[in-house]
Amino acid sequence: AELYDFMVVSNRLPVDRCSPDESGCEDGWRRSPGGLVTALAPMMTKTDGAWVGWHGAPDETLAPFSHGGIDLVPVQLSTQDIELFYEGFSNATIWPLYHDVIAAPEFHRTWWDSYRKVNKRFADAVARHAAPRATVWVQDYQLQLVPKMLRELRPDLKIGFFNHIPFPPPEIFAQLPWRQAIIDGLLGADLVGFQRSSDAGNFMRSARRFLGASVKQQQIHVKGSDGQTTHIARAQAFPISIDVKQISELAQQPEIIERARQIRQDLGNPKTVLLGVDRLDYTKGIRHRLKAYAELLADGKVTVEDAALIQVASPSRERVEQYRILREEVEGTVGHINGTYDTIQNTALRYLHHSYPVQEMVALYLAADVMLVTALRDGMNLVAKEYVTARTNNDGALVLSEFAGAADQLKQALLINPHDIDGLKAAIMKAVHMQPAEAGRRMRSMRKQILHHDVDLWSADFLAALEEKVIRD
Ligand code: G6P
Repeated sequence: AELYDFMVVSNRLPVDRCSPDESGCEDGWRRSPGGLVTALAPMMTKTDGAWVGWHGAPDETLAPFSHGGIDLVPVQLSTQDIELFYEGFSNATIWPLYHDVIAAPEFHRTWWDSYRKVNKRFADAVARHAAPRATVWVQDYQLQLVPKMLRELRPDLKIGFFNHIPFPPPEIFAQLPWRQAIIDGLLGADLVGFQRSSDAGNFMRSARRFLGASVKQQQIHVKGSDGQTTHIARAQAFPISIDVKQISELAQQPEIIERARQIRQDLGNPKTVLLGVDRLDYTKGIRHRLKAYAELLADGKVTVEDAALIQVASPSRERVEQYRILREEVEGTVGHINGTYDTIQNTALRYLHHSYPVQEMVALYLAADVMLVTALRDGMNLVAKEYVTARTNNDGALVLSEFAGAADQLKQALLINPHDIDGLKAAIMKAVHMQPAEAGRRMRSMRKQILHHDVDLWSADFLAALEEKVIRD
């Protein structure tokens, strides 16, 4: 096998298997959904190295191959692995547990057994392809056991881990029957990165509480059975970002600007276009957003002629029960709102259960006066950062949940608590009526932040911190 000095490992590869009749499918591949791939793909196209992950098709074994300039090492998942490891433990245990138990997490030993088994498969794949003393960067909640498994197989490696989603406070993490093994698994890394400093703090408190680890500053001392420190892991926040150059260049292309104009015209040129863009996930606060909009229509604060809402909800994890329930609910609400407020000429809400290429997304950002990000809990939320980056004219308003990691950086957004529907409604009205001078002030300050903290800086920061030698005391 070819050996690599640098490897990224994530559950999903940047491309996903698809059949040619599906939209966006080219040569049997399409871009994988979600923020993780959006953030890591730009670095990987510029670096030598390999990306280890699942290719999205059940039961299919593939040899390493190259796609879009990136070397890919596929890991196979069986139909049963998908059910137990992916849909089960990753997305019906860890995902809801780490997102403030918005949905009730389920705990099943068979799911946990599968999670361990699949994590071992990923660790084995990396161990086979990593050159001596290579750097390996493991990503996200699906692979929390990989750092320790990998350290046991290959003590020569430099191992980083980054958690793209929140890490819960110990009071919630305590529910997990396998809490010790998870912390222990993560502590196999030299550096454990999080989105927010509160996530890193939560992790360190859990390491202390559930493993009795001693934590000094950001260093966690992992002790062997003799009580001696065997390894020191560090925990730190590295807020993730986006490919600023790509989004701002697209936002200035004449065809995309024209497309944005077309979108507004197709909507009947309403005074205000509101926009929501999310994976269809219960963490995103889509229900709260629709409720606020429906109440504004009911109160007569806005009318369908002057404020239209576009909600893009890209399909996600459709076989997981909570996601099916959510879809039913959201689509019921959409039907209710449109049935009540539409006129023959105007539609209140355009609900689009699709995913779109980045060009169309940027056109939507340009078409929208107000961007609504109302997540109940979100690791970062890159949609907020993309919107701000696309607004090269420094206009438009961002309504942003304080429960999204992005709120730590985008302090000039209209920050809201999505559970406070009255507060959310007030923020939407403030955004709708905001004077250009104030909008410009806020947008300029947010753009400055993001332009200086793009995703290249994020990965460079993390990797520089990973290479730093830990001083033992
Ligand atoms: C989030 C997670 C990623 C995940 C993505 C899409 O961004 O942090 O790890 O890949 O959602 O979800 P999916 O389950 O389709 O991979």
